[in-house]
Amino acid sequence: MKKIGIIFGMETTFPPALVEKINSMREPGIQAELATIGEVRMAEPSPYAVIVDRISHDIPFYRAYLKNAALSGTIVINNPFWWSADDKFFNFALGHKLGVAIPPTVLIPHKEHPPGTTERSMRNLQYPMPWDSIFSYVGFPAFLKPFDGGGWRDVYKVNSPEEFFNAYDQSRDLCMTLQRGVKFKEYFRCYVVGQENVHIMHYDPAAPSHERYVKNPPPVDPKLLERVERDCLTLCRALGYDLNTVEFACEDGIPYAIDFMNPAPDADVNSVGQENFDWIVNQVAELAVRKAKQHTGEVPEYRWSAFLRGAVPKSQAAAKNAVAPKAEKAPEPAAESSKPGTMLDAASKQLRKRASKG
Ligand SMILES: Nc1ncnc2c1ncn2[C@@H]1O[C@H](COP(=O)(O)OP(=O)(O)OP(=O)(O)O)[C@@H](O)[C@H]1O
Ligand SMILES: [Mg+2]
Repeated sequence: MKKIGIIFGMETTFPPALVEKINSMREPGIQAELATIGEVRMAEPSPYAVIVDRISHDIPFYRAYLKNAALSGTIVINNPFWWSADDKFFNFALGHKLGVAIPPTVLIPHKEHPPGTTERSMRNLQYPMPWDSIFSYVGFPAFLKPFDGGGWRDVYKVNSPEEFFNAYDQSRDLCMTLQRGVKFKEYFRCYVVGQENVHIMHYDPAAPSHERYVKNPPPVDPKLLERVERDCLTLCRALGYDLNTVEFACEDGIPYAIDFMNPAPDADVNSVGQENFDWIVNQVAELAVRKAKQHTGEVPEYRWSAFLRGAVPKSQAAAKNAVAPKAEKAPEPAAESSKPGTMLDAASKQLRKRASKG
């Protein structure tokens, strides 16, 4: 029996729906469950052939467990090694090199010294920074945002140097990026699964959070959608993520990729809506089953330098199953009343069982 395990945090809808979907496929010898993790001995294999990871970015214990499991051949969606190494500024640089439109972006040093360091730790840094040059490259309006973040935390829109310095003063010890603001007409958030399948969702960042995924979007130039799909695949194949969302802000018909390190993307039915939810559940279920069938117990190829060259043929990229994207903020716990009872019941039964085991 090959087991597929799901590791998750506060979310309540996607993990049980995924388990239910995989098990309803009745693939001989393949079974899915919400994963249980107890004692973790070094180099000991995990019972799971495949693990879908939704939360290790917030729980280092799980990240370390997943790396240890990978050592014995468990296929992890997404690659815990690459996810640990990746950051959004690197992503922008890579996207730019690959010919995807990226707004001019600069890396900005921590305003305050990281814990345990002093100015003596940062003596390599030019002082003052060449702010005029930075502002003329990026332009205004601009977005000051963490080089590795999510959930709109510490994201500031700034219209002038004064507003920039004011926001920068609030950014504590975070490493930040400053990126040109896109005056967008269309905005898309795209699920990309298995480095093959793209689902483009119209998104309105200005709407209240439960209405951001636009239900009846206005028609869009098919050429723009074609380019969005192509750019999604270019980026996710280069990064090797098997599950990711790529966000585009489009100005004058050009889709600018502004956020594509979301290896545990929001997949809560209450925010993405039923149609998008069904798509992502089905796609990830099929991907996990495909990976389980490919599982041999051999340690997968976890290097990524070939991906980064951006010229890896599809088949080769697919074979290198190890790489994965980053998760977005943990979706809010779903309202019980609006959830399909069976899924919640299954999840809470598993959780209770786990709790009673101590
Ligand atoms: N360069 C930009 N041009 C225009 N708008 C931007 C830009 N960068 C960020 N934004 C706005 O700020 C929002 C949050 O930015 P971003 O997606 O980079 O942060 P995040 O913390 O990853 O958010 P989330 O987790 O919701 O994806 C975007 O949805 C968009 O509305
Ligand atoms: Mg985003």
